[in-house]
Parts: sequence; C-alpha cells; structure tokens
Amino acid sequence: MPRSTVRGATPKAAERVSRPTRMRIDDVPEVTALEALLFRDAWSADSFLAEVERRPEIGHPFVVRADGDLIAYGVVWFIVDELHVGNVAVHPDHQGRGLGRRLMGYVLREGRRRGMASAMLEVRPSNTRARALYESLGFRQVGVRRNYYRDDREDALVLELDLDPSPEERS
Ligand SMILES: CC(C)(COP(=O)(O)OP(=O)(O)OC[C@H]1O[C@@H](n2cnc3c(N)ncnc32)[C@H](O)[C@@H]1OP(=O)(O)O)[C@@H](O)C(=O)NCCC(=O)NCCS
Repeated sequence: MPRSTVRGATPKAAERVSRPTRMRIDDVPEVTALEALLFRDAWSADSFLAEVERRPEIGHPFVVRADGDLIAYGVVWFIVDELHVGNVAVHPDHQGRGLGRRLMGYVLREGRRRGMASAMLEVRPSNTRARALYESLGFRQVGVRRNYYRDDREDALVLELDLDPSPEERS
C-alpha cells in the first residue's frame, strides 16, 4: 500500500507515517498488543475483530503505521447522526508529537463527511492528556457515567461536540 506522510505531522527523521487506513484482520494482533500496553481494561482481539467485520457505514476502525510498525489506531461508530469515538490511541514512543490531534481531526472530518451532527466520547477524569486534547477541540462535558470503567470503577466523563460543517464542506 502506498504510504505518505500525515499532513503536518512531525515524524522522526526519514520515518514514513501512513495515512489512517481501515483496520484489517491482519492488523488485529498488533492492535491488541498496543491496546494491552495502553489500557488496564484493554479490549480483546475478538472485540477488534468484531470492529473489522462491522459494516463501513456503521463503524470505522483504523490504523496508522510508521515504517510498517503500528503506531496508532482508533475505532469510531456512526450512530444515526452521532459520531461516537470508541477509542483513539497512540503508541507511547509517538505520543506528544501531534499525532493524536491529527487523528482526532481525521475522525471529526470523517464524521462531518458522513453528515454526523455531533461527536461524543467517554474519557476518564484522570486522563488529563486526552481531556486536554478533547477540550482544545471544543468538546464539552454533558454528563457523567458513574462507575463506568470495569477495572477500577472510575467514572467516565461524557463529552460532546457539535459538528457544524466546515466552510469547505458547506460550499
Ligand atoms: C490521548 C492521546 C491519544 C493523545 O495523543 P498524542 O499524540 O500524545 O497527543 P498530541 O501530541 O497530538 O497532543 C494533543 C494535545 O494533547 C495534550 N497533551 C499532549 N501531551 C500532553 C501531556 N504530556 N500532558 C498534558 N496534555 C498533553 C495537549 O492538549 C496537546 O495539545 P497541543 O498540541 O496544543 O500541545 C495519547 O496520549 C494516547 O494514546 N494515550 C493513551 C490512550 C488514551 O488515553 N486514549 C484516549 C482514550 S479516551
């Protein structure tokens, strides 16, 4: 598959970062390993396989690779007119270099392109990095799900963003 540098990202010298591409069955072992590295309540391989098999108009799991290695992935769902961000995750070696922000931009553009009116997600109150990212994109808190996370019963903050069409999509 041809690779190209993600627009505006700052990869390490000579590193080739792919555009987000739809997750395939062959990606699932690496995605599951990265998920286990990042989350205590990690999704199983079966959960990711179910996402891969989901109809494209309902769900869009995606991956990003650099020089062939998996460096990020995400899962989003299109539920009526709402984009639901199930997960966005960046490998620790690649965090803090703008990739998460660019992936969220990709996800929100994809939602607008499909006519979604809003985007929503859940985030741990303790996940200050992710919260800072979402809040800087305009997400606002609309609720709390008590004892949401299975491993430690931490609450989830429910964040929402209106997806007004961007100017170029309006014309
Ligand atoms: C959350 C995550 C996706 C962000 O991706 P990233 O590539 O590290 O983030 P970016 O480099 O694009 O930074 C985006 C914003 O995050 C915030 N951020 C990044 N690093 C931060 C840090 N060390 N401390 C606090 N905020 C930070 C900032 O608001 C930053 O905005 P800026 O670009 O204006 O500085 C990534 O850290 C990650 O995968 N974390 C583990 C998995 C996870 O928690 N996923 C979200 C589940 S809801």
